[in-house]
Amino acid sequence: MTLNWHELIEKAWNDRKDLLESDEFDCWRVFHGYTEGASGVVIEKFGTMVIVEYKDDIRDDLDEIKDALLQCFPFTLILAKGDQSIGLRLKDRMYALHGDISDAPKFAKEYGISYGLLPDAMHNCGLYLDARPVRKWLAHNSEGRRVLNLFSFTGSLGIAALKGGAKAAIHLDKSKALLPRIQNSYEINGMDFGTRSFIQGDIYKHLPKAIKNGQRFDGIILDPPPKVYKSPYSEHQPKGQDFSRLVSLCSKLLNPGGWLICLFHRYDATWDQSDAEIIASSSDTLKMTERFTSECDFPDDNVDRKLRVTVFEKI
Ligand SMILES: C[S@@+](CC[C@H](N)C(=O)[O-])C[C@H]1O[C@@H](n2cnc3c(N)ncnc32)[C@H](O)[C@@H]1O
Repeated sequence: MTLNWHELIEKAWNDRKDLLESDEFDCWRVFHGYTEGASGVVIEKFGTMVIVEYKDDIRDDLDEIKDALLQCFPFTLILAKGDQSIGLRLKDRMYALHGDISDAPKFAKEYGISYGLLPDAMHNCGLYLDARPVRKWLAHNSEGRRVLNLFSFTGSLGIAALKGGAKAAIHLDKSKALLPRIQNSYEINGMDFGTRSFIQGDIYKHLPKAIKNGQRFDGIILDPPPKVYKSPYSEHQPKGQDFSRLVSLCSKLLNPGGWLICLFHRYDATWDQSDAEIIASSSDTLKMTERFTSECDFPDDNVDRKLRVTVFEKI
């Protein structure tokens, strides 16, 4: 079936007029193909750059997509990124459809904060757009708190907490390559990185160690990837996001009144089931206080397919 990309993109663009008119951010999902007419395609805007990611082989359509995007907005760079499942060689998987990659914006803006980008990163370029409401929540609920940002990636969630007045944010991720990227975002925002903001290592090694050392936090951000892999530091075999094991550890690191914010990327359980699992894993030391989902640029009538976020409080 041939798709009318002009029609699909123009409709998606007009459905997001409110985002375009807002001066609070310059980045959002332009096209969410799963529910907007092309299931393997997502298009995301970061300032004047737009990235077209595809899991279905739509290479013959890319020129039409480029023209449709340019009719909506004067993008200076349009990047195409093909998924490895299509079988393309690495060097053919990403290229500029329009503009020059050396002119790519270095950061995206959201609620007064700049986040560093690496446009040619093969996976996410640095900022998960579905987590925008999480960053907003953190900026409003972190004053005076010591926050632990687990599975930190580029640190964006911890940086939002700091901008909201957190007294400290400690990022933990197993990838060493992320350190300069986190530092870059601190620098852009005029924030002091210090020497103890980033712990590089496996979560299953560091959380038990932190408990043993008597560490405590007033906020913990828990955003595991959809599939957590088995760790050499733990005997157990993680299932999905492994919330049960992770929450049993995190709940011991929280001060009373501290919050735990969980991001559910799983599709095998309802929201109620996921929340119940968290409370049980904390031995009933947590209570649910707030819930929200991704915003209008991730349209889906089925809430169980969206990013679901629950906030818990330590009793
Ligand atoms: C989905 S990303 C997290 C996104 C991040 N919270 C954000 O909003 O930008 C998952 C991250 O988990 C890290 N990771 C995966 N397994 C880990 C482990 N066992 N210990 C520590 N980090 C891990 C990966 O390196 C990756 O950066």
